[in-house]
Amino acid sequence: MKIDEYKKYSDGYKEQIDAELKKIIGELNYSADFKEVLEYALFPGGKRLRPILMLEWHNMFAPADYYALRYACGLEILHAYSLIHDDMPCMDNDDYRRGKLTVHKKYGEGMALLAGDALMDLAYRILNMPTPALEVGPFCMFKDMCGDGGLIHGQYCDLYGKIDNLDDLLDMCKHKTGALIKLSCISGFALGNNLDYKKCKALFESQPSDETAATDMTDDRLLLNYVLASGFGEAFGAAFQLYDDISEYINGEKISSTSVMNYVDLDEAKKMLNTLLNDAADTLEALRGDTAFLRELLNRFIII
Ligand code: IPE
Ligand code: IPE
Ligand code: MG
Ligand code: MG
Repeated sequence: MKIDEYKKYSDGYKEQIDAELKKIIGELNYSADFKEVLEYALFPGGKRLRPILMLEWHNMFAPADYYALRYACGLEILHAYSLIHDDMPCMDNDDYRRGKLTVHKKYGEGMALLAGDALMDLAYRILNMPTPALEVGPFCMFKDMCGDGGLIHGQYCDLYGKIDNLDDLLDMCKHKTGALIKLSCISGFALGNNLDYKKCKALFESQPSDETAATDMTDDRLLLNYVLASGFGEAFGAAFQLYDDISEYINGEKISSTSVMNYVDLDEAKKMLNTLLNDAADTLEALRGDTAFLRELLNRFIII
């Protein structure tokens, strides 16, 4: 896919996501001043990477639809909550995010804490929402990847965990950053294939080599595609945190104690990043469908 084509495509996604996010916040019954804080955290957005990944994985298997868009916004809202709390003085103590004051710097800590809480509550409600085809969405995946099996556990390890070596560090990244990215890919796949709670759970709890789960699935292709979505999400999720750490280092920004750059030199870090991006690209080989957008997305994270 050519660069301008990619940009047009991702700008199209961003427009839809932004419009729906505005609508979702507009529908809330909070006071106008509190809604302003929520909007401040969500707009202008960043890359909108997680909802874009979700929509692209959905649209590979099904026509675009409103419920997928809503779900994608739920993922972005969850991401926004995690950033508000991550920046607070009791966590990373950052004053700026996306080139503007962090929420607690602008509105105070109490407001930031509550805004994070409100966005998390909202995300859970959206992601647990029924669709015309599904009474229960792929919520089982969501709760596992955002709590004790994912993001919050990863943030705990980042702040309080014992990280003695590179393996510990990569494991922490897998949870704090990788889990939500992986969830974006597999939930897009799940909604795109109209998987009900039972099927989702069977897939989610299966391992690629788990033959029992495989034989329980009515469609082997479904299991293969799940494994591909999951493999892509896992490899890209890890690559994404490495990219973030390497970029901070190259740009001369403050390096956190849990940056990969404390464990390997620049060449080694780039090698690790590019291997993970290749692993993600390899999973796309076996997919039947148009993977041009995802390939171009991966290209954007190569550092030479
Ligand atoms: C920042 O995520 C936090 C990490 C997990 C590294 P993004 O880089 O996706 O943030 P935005 O939303 O694009 O600003
Ligand atoms: C943020 O990770 C991860 C979550 C918010 C879950 P970092 O602390 O490494 O990311 P930045 O540098 O603040 O964006
Ligand atoms: Mg942090
Ligand atoms: Mg941080």
